[in-house]
Amino acid sequence: MAFGLWFTLFELLLKLFLILAFVKKGSAGITSTFTRTKWQSFDIPLDHKVLAIPNGYNAPQQVHITQGDYDGKAVMISWVTADKPGSSRVQYGTSEKKYDFKADGTVANYTFYNYKSGYTHHCLVDGLEYETKYYYKIGEGHSSREFWFQTPPKIDPDSPFTFGIIGDLGQTYNSLSTLEHYMQSGGQTVLFLGDLSYADRYQYNDVGIRWDSWGRFIERSAAYQPWIWSAGNHEIEYMPDVVILQLCILNLLYV
Ligand SMILES: [Fe+2]
Repeated sequence: MAFGLWFTLFELLLKLFLILAFVKKGSAGITSTFTRTKWQSFDIPLDHKVLAIPNGYNAPQQVHITQGDYDGKAVMISWVTADKPGSSRVQYGTSEKKYDFKADGTVANYTFYNYKSGYTHHCLVDGLEYETKYYYKIGEGHSSREFWFQTPPKIDPDSPFTFGIIGDLGQTYNSLSTLEHYMQSGGQTVLFLGDLSYADRYQYNDVGIRWDSWGRFIERSAAYQPWIWSAGNHEIEYMPDVVILQLCILNLLYV
């Protein structure tokens, strides 16, 4: 075949490819019609049920997990107790209400301006099997609480895995709609892009309070699957009449 014919054929194929690419562009990869409302939304009041403090003296709250290693065979489980340090133990196992294993973690607290944090616990649970559902229990006596998570498949280019990417979540009614939509999507892990609670909008006696309410807000998802964190500018607090102070809660609670 003459070179000119090859060239014409190549040119035709290239044009066809470009046309098809433009035609498909409008809907490529979209799996949902969900669009968050464009209207401004307000922070959910502290007495709303989605921010509720769990029942029971010193009951674990703000429960969340993150990936505990690079392979998917460990999770770090974190929570807060409000009244006293209490236990940092996690009991876990592969059957519901049957906890054959245990791990012990650490506890710490801090003060910032007028805010005194609860007791933040971190416990690494490792040596897990791939693609296995684990049940876990934290807290003591009648105040104990139970959750579960599923480990990912073994790392492989062909292993299917669905994850969500969320940033700037905050704790408004729009945040709630986004979170509920994500939970219906079947995502197995969240990569969080920063700007978690927007607690820095609050000053004086309200400093820190919206970190705790946000921890309770995301628990419905974050206690059951890893959320992997990065920090945004709203994690830094600039206090009035003080030069600049940085709130260290991100390092302390969201590892
Ligand atoms: Fe932001």
